[in-house]
Amino acid sequence: MNERYDVIIVGTGAAGLYCALNLPDRIRTLIISKQKADESDSFLAQGGICMLCGEDDYDNYFADTMKAGHYENDERAVDLMIRSSNSIIRDLVARGVRFARDGEGRLDFTREGAHSRPRILFHEDVTGREITQTLLDGVRCKKNVTILENTTMIDLIVKDNICGGIVIMDDHDRIDTIFSDNVVLACGGLGGLYKNSTNFPHITGDALAIALKHNIAVEHLDYIQIHPTTLYSKKPGRRFLISESVRGEGALLYDKHGQRFTNELQPRDLLSEAIWAQMEKDHTEFVWEDMRPLGKETILTHFPNIYQRCLEEGFDVLKEPIPVVPAQHYFMGGIKVDLSSRTSMAGLYACGETSCNGVHGKNRLASNSLLESLVFAQRAADDILFGSGHAPCPAGPVSKNIYPDRETLFATYRSHILEAIEGMKNEETA
Ligand code: SIN
Repeated sequence: MNERYDVIIVGTGAAGLYCALNLPDRIRTLIISKQKADESDSFLAQGGICMLCGEDDYDNYFADTMKAGHYENDERAVDLMIRSSNSIIRDLVARGVRFARDGEGRLDFTREGAHSRPRILFHEDVTGREITQTLLDGVRCKKNVTILENTTMIDLIVKDNICGGIVIMDDHDRIDTIFSDNVVLACGGLGGLYKNSTNFPHITGDALAIALKHNIAVEHLDYIQIHPTTLYSKKPGRRFLISESVRGEGALLYDKHGQRFTNELQPRDLLSEAIWAQMEKDHTEFVWEDMRPLGKETILTHFPNIYQRCLEEGFDVLKEPIPVVPAQHYFMGGIKVDLSSRTSMAGLYACGETSCNGVHGKNRLASNSLLESLVFAQRAADDILFGSGHAPCPAGPVSKNIYPDRETLFATYRSHILEAIEGMKNEETA
């Protein structure tokens, strides 16, 4: 291939797609996706996307985000995200995203844990799919954008700390190079490295491993978010999320005796701890979540996907509680970026879950992830267009023979990530 593009984006989640949509038609752009373009974690997001509900909500939204993040958040990033939310939502609506509306046609809001008021826009219980599919449809209409599916980034082309492109592997394990002065890493988190995760198994932190290899700055690798409520199952594979908005709308958690044992709307890390403690006390592998307080109409109109999936697993949420257990869900750490999503390497950007701009601190507030992805993907696009630029990468042709087979390569990447996470954990506890 050895082709050259103006911009290469790695990942077809909300961040990658929105970055592409914010680049003008004169910019030749390539987006690669490890599997099919609609197999990103953004498609799986259920709950919704936060929005600042008027100026009087600013202080509370800011405080909720900071408190959930244990005040380790970068305040400038939080401010930018909140202040940008209305223009992002306006743009999504203009692109055709359908958010729930009340009887008068006004946007409707749901609530999730650690939010002091309802400020979350939603589309049934498949908000991520609604947003990301709309963005993907938009990108597919752009003549300047090429999407390459079933294509895995296995390395960056680098010299003198300047990025000049990526090395890719297709699904027949053929290796190739693609050149660009602007590479955007938007390939999600690392849930695929965990046995129990709500993420797609192929989302394995590849960009992070490659960043470690090239000494690109990374941050808070041990800040892994556990979602308190996923449907308990003995089957292997991805864990099915029972959205936090279910609890936001009134679902309750019970111990083995059918008694409430905690506040269901605590931040995720604290609620997960409370559930584990209860499981230990009860000698059980799950606790119970009861959706019946929501009533039939809310369950069927707001949560049709969860209702259906639980039925398929043998539970009728209209009639009985379901077994739930915490599982890995999100990565607050990642490749360190500034407020323009620039990494420590010239020509290299990161946004979405791949990056760490500090907005989430130690624990992300529910439904801030889609918003953050969009805000900082747009900022990456802006910097590519209007930033100060950089010298071109002086790297010559890349030898393809230096890479082992896929299995060996990704086993090495996996062990480097896990080692780095452990290292950071030890550093922070020392
Ligand atoms: C959920 O619906 O509980 C997940 C949404 C999020 O991760 O913010």
